[in-house]
Amino acid sequence: MSFQIIQKDWPFLIHPSLTVLLTASYEDRDTITPIAWIMPLSGEPPLVATALKETRFAYELLVKSGEFGVNVPPLDQAEKVWACGTTSGRNQDKFALTGFQRMKAERIKAPLIQECIAYLECRLFADESFGDHHLIVGEVLLAKVKEGLFDTCFNEKFSPCLHLRKNLFLNADWKSLRAV
Ligand SMILES: Cc1cc2nc3c(=O)[nH]c(=O)nc-3n(C[C@H](O)[C@H](O)[C@H](O)COP(=O)(O)O)c2cc1C
Repeated sequence: MSFQIIQKDWPFLIHPSLTVLLTASYEDRDTITPIAWIMPLSGEPPLVATALKETRFAYELLVKSGEFGVNVPPLDQAEKVWACGTTSGRNQDKFALTGFQRMKAERIKAPLIQECIAYLECRLFADESFGDHHLIVGEVLLAKVKEGLFDTCFNEKFSPCLHLRKNLFLNADWKSLRAV
C-alpha cells in the first residue's frame, strides 16, 4: 500500500463538512460569514465550537456584541454562500450583495437568514486563540429548524451544503443511507 503525503491541504482530508453561515452584528453593521469548521462541543450546557480567523469582520462584530447566529443553508444557496465567503462585510452589505433576507432572531440581536433552514442563536461563551484561528465557543440559547425537515435528525427533504474545498459543494447522497 502506498500513501500520498498531504502538506498544507490536510484539513480537506476531514471534509466534506456542513457549511453554515455565521451572522453577527454590532450597532448598524452586520455580516454573513460561511464557516465549515464547526462542531457541537457540549450537550449540557449546550455549546457549539467554530474556528474563526481574527481577520474576519465576523470576528470583530461577534466579540463586540457577544453573540452570533448559526444559519444552515441548503445546497441551492451555494452560489450566495460562495459570494459571502469571497467578500468581507467590512466593505460590502452582504444581504444587499446576495439578496439574502434578514430575519429577526428571538434571543440575539444579530439577524438570521430567511433562506436558511435551521438556526442556532448563540451567546459568546469563550474565545481562545490557537495558531491562525480563534476557537469561538457559543452557548446555544435557541435552536430551531423549519417544519418537515427534521425528525430526530435531518431527513431526505434536506439538501445540505457540504463543503469539499474552495468553490466545490455537494449534497448528501440520501440513496446511500443505511442503518447498521
Ligand atoms: C465554504 C467556506 C467555508 C469557510 N470556512 C471558514 C471557517 O471555518 N473559518 C474561517 O475563519 N473562515 C472560513 N471561510 C472564509 C470566510 O467565510 C471568508 O473569509 C469571508 O469572506 C469572511 O467574511 P467577513 O470578513 O465578512 O467575516 C470559509 C469560506 C467558505 C467559502
